[in-house]
Amino acid sequence: MKAIAVIPKKEKSVHLVEMDKPGVAEFKDGRGVLVEVLRVGACGTDREINNAEYGVAPRGFDFLVLGHENFGRVVETGEKVTELKKGDFVVATVRRPRGSSIYDRIGEQDFTTDDKYYERGISRLHGYMAEFYVESADFLIKIPPSLAEIAVLLEPLSIIEKGLKQASDIQERLKIWRPKRAAVLGTGNVGLLTVMALRMRGYEVHGFGRNSREGYLNAELCAGIGATYDSTAEISVTDSTRQYGEFDLVFECTGFSPIIFDAMQSLSENGILILSSVTGGDRTTDAVPSDKINQMFVLGNRAMVGTVNANREHFEMGVKDFALCEAMYPGWLGRMLTHRVEGLENFARVFDILENSAKYNAIKTYFEVKKF
Ligand code: BGC
Repeated sequence: MKAIAVIPKKEKSVHLVEMDKPGVAEFKDGRGVLVEVLRVGACGTDREINNAEYGVAPRGFDFLVLGHENFGRVVETGEKVTELKKGDFVVATVRRPRGSSIYDRIGEQDFTTDDKYYERGISRLHGYMAEFYVESADFLIKIPPSLAEIAVLLEPLSIIEKGLKQASDIQERLKIWRPKRAAVLGTGNVGLLTVMALRMRGYEVHGFGRNSREGYLNAELCAGIGATYDSTAEISVTDSTRQYGEFDLVFECTGFSPIIFDAMQSLSENGILILSSVTGGDRTTDAVPSDKINQMFVLGNRAMVGTVNANREHFEMGVKDFALCEAMYPGWLGRMLTHRVEGLENFARVFDILENSAKYNAIKTYFEVKKF
């Protein structure tokens, strides 16, 4: 079968490989599921791995099959699989409990404290940019056929669902927390999915991006789901609080770390800031009003939390938000799927769009591996 791989730590090494088709027998406990890949999303993580910023090949291989945003259909199930059957649509989670930390051992591998982690398509495990994969049923989420068209967006949404779950868990420290207003920093595909998830929870949502509003599809999508959009070239997040009021919750997903200090100064008392950008660079920031920020956090009981990856429950929360969004704003999610590339062999096109997403006005670029 065909797959798309990189040589980890070698810049722009993305290429097509030929591999053996996997089989359910790889799982000796009878829980294996063979899945034909229908769609795979491409994101900044894939671009950064191809730019040799990170990425680790599985043991015994000098290449890593890319792809973690996935959607497929069950072809065959092992004899101990009762929850899935041939023909079911599925999305697979990304991280596996292969580490030695207590969190891996209790199935909370998204909270692993190990330096070495196991993520399909990213670290130590082959990913989903392939015609087939085999996986334990434990890591597959069943997708209702009515959500098939947008299900390739579930993995990125799962990251947001985990962030929001962490926020609500942390805010249990307050006997009453009735958040009303939220800011989402960054309105790329992760930002737009965050705007959606917060709107589904009834928040007044304010999205912020770099581009000006006119003619910008991402701004139009914010408006289309009842959120505002502002360009940070025109108004800083901190200044926007004079217009909108302070934010009970701020979700950061720009990839531009200096903005977090603005975000910290935009929170209301008892509010919470969620950080989700993996900033692999070495940027530093001067002139941070540290006394002011520190005092705001202390006197206002404000909180900040980092979040990465997602577990099964977060994918399941995402399926529910998708269903609600399709009921409330039919077609909105589908508008995020801006760039479809047919066939894995056209990987150069996908990476060109990833490298130049502003030029292409791309929100989500994905491979259509097989029509369904
Ligand atoms: C993936 C996560 C992963 C993170 C760090 C993200 O792009 O969506 O599942 O944990 O990268 O590798």
